[in-house]
Amino acid sequence: MKALCWYSKEDVRVENVPDPKIINSDDAIIKITSTAICGSDLHLYDALVPTLAPGDILGHEFMGEVVETGKDVKNLKTGDRVIVPFVIACGQCWFCKKGLWSVCDNSNPNAWMVDKMYGYSGAGLFGFGHYAGGFAGGQAEYARVPFADFGPLVIPDHLPDDKVLFLTDIFPTGYMAAENCDIEPGDVIAVWGCGPVGQFAIKSAYMLGAERVIAIDRVPERLKMAQEEGKAEVLNYEEVNVVEALREMTGGRGPDACIDAVGMEAHGVNPDAIYDKVKQSLRLETDRAVALREMIQACRKAGTISVPGVYAMVIDKFPFGSAFDKGLNFKMGQTHVQRYTKKLLDRIEKGDIDPSFVITHHLKLEEAPKGYRKFRDKKDNCIKIVLKPGE
Ligand SMILES: NC(=O)c1ccc[n+]([C@@H]2O[C@H](COP(=O)([O-])OP(=O)(O)OC[C@H]3O[C@@H](n4cnc5c(N)ncnc54)[C@H](O)[C@@H]3O)[C@@H](O)[C@H]2O)c1
Ligand SMILES: [Zn+2]
Ligand SMILES: [Zn+2]
Repeated sequence: MKALCWYSKEDVRVENVPDPKIINSDDAIIKITSTAICGSDLHLYDALVPTLAPGDILGHEFMGEVVETGKDVKNLKTGDRVIVPFVIACGQCWFCKKGLWSVCDNSNPNAWMVDKMYGYSGAGLFGFGHYAGGFAGGQAEYARVPFADFGPLVIPDHLPDDKVLFLTDIFPTGYMAAENCDIEPGDVIAVWGCGPVGQFAIKSAYMLGAERVIAIDRVPERLKMAQEEGKAEVLNYEEVNVVEALREMTGGRGPDACIDAVGMEAHGVNPDAIYDKVKQSLRLETDRAVALREMIQACRKAGTISVPGVYAMVIDKFPFGSAFDKGLNFKMGQTHVQRYTKKLLDRIEKGDIDPSFVITHHLKLEEAPKGYRKFRDKKDNCIKIVLKPGE
């Protein structure tokens, strides 16, 4: 089959690789009809996430048709059309039973790598580094899905791929980011980053009852989408001092919660942004935290910082003293996708939201390398790319 393989920084190629096979009796094989490129893939593309090996297949937002199931799979059958959460989870362990799917105890065969660095490992993930299990991803014609009874969700035929594909990641991710803000009536939520995750965080904050959402970015078409589709008020961080502007817009109090939909590759205009860039390029720091520092400054006292943006290792100059003194709450992590898929599918079916609004490009799988560059460099008004294997 054809698949998008990672080789090194900015070097990804579509190659012929062996088809995946059933390995365990609870696996399924999916023929992929749609698969997207995510901001998390960009951290891999930019070689900022450790433990990828040349030839690894990327991609963790994918859906398609079940073409084979292991003998112990009960909830799926050949021919089912499914979305596949990017988090691989066993459904049986203490964490899965509590709905904490992204920290499943059983799905990462390389947990030992992470235990040393982090204390404990999170779940296995499709198409990430070997620290997350080294599972082949879904930017391919086929994928093997482990624990197939506890991830894939069957999709009714009348809903097209573009409407449901993002149940695999970015819709639940934006939703959990907003849920983590514990929104109360009258709340003002500020969202840093108007990429795909930020767009879903904006929509979800309103779905969960926010009175106002203020969105921050510098890319004009992303700010426009936040404003027109998301109904957010917007700030361009290259034009205004974000902390001062937010203070003014909230009567001096600051937003009730701040969502970091940027992650470890934040850029910025303040001196700390230059400091981060230099240190990261010298490999003296792994994560650039410009947006996160700004949030700690801007958030109201006893407010919440919700972090769906991915961080990999260590941050310098993290103002923990101000966070402490202001009594801030922090919530973060890879999304517990399985917790939200059914509930959000219902919202799509009811017509409360059509997640396809975020798609700007459909490309063939063969065009994926060009797509990565376009999405990373924010060229050609690119906000979200869907790849169509087999077309
Ligand atoms: N927690 C999860 O499970 C999960 C799931 C999906 C994605 N993510 C992460 O979410 C983040 C966003 O993903 P995406 O697909 O939207 O990526 P993206 O790269 O398209 O979006 C990031 C946006 O942040 C903006 N930005 C950069 N610096 C900024 C700053 N200082 N202030 C405000 N905006 C700034 C960029 O212009 C860009 O529009 C990534 O870190 C990704 O890895 C996490
Ligand atoms: Zn993703
Ligand atoms: Zn588990």
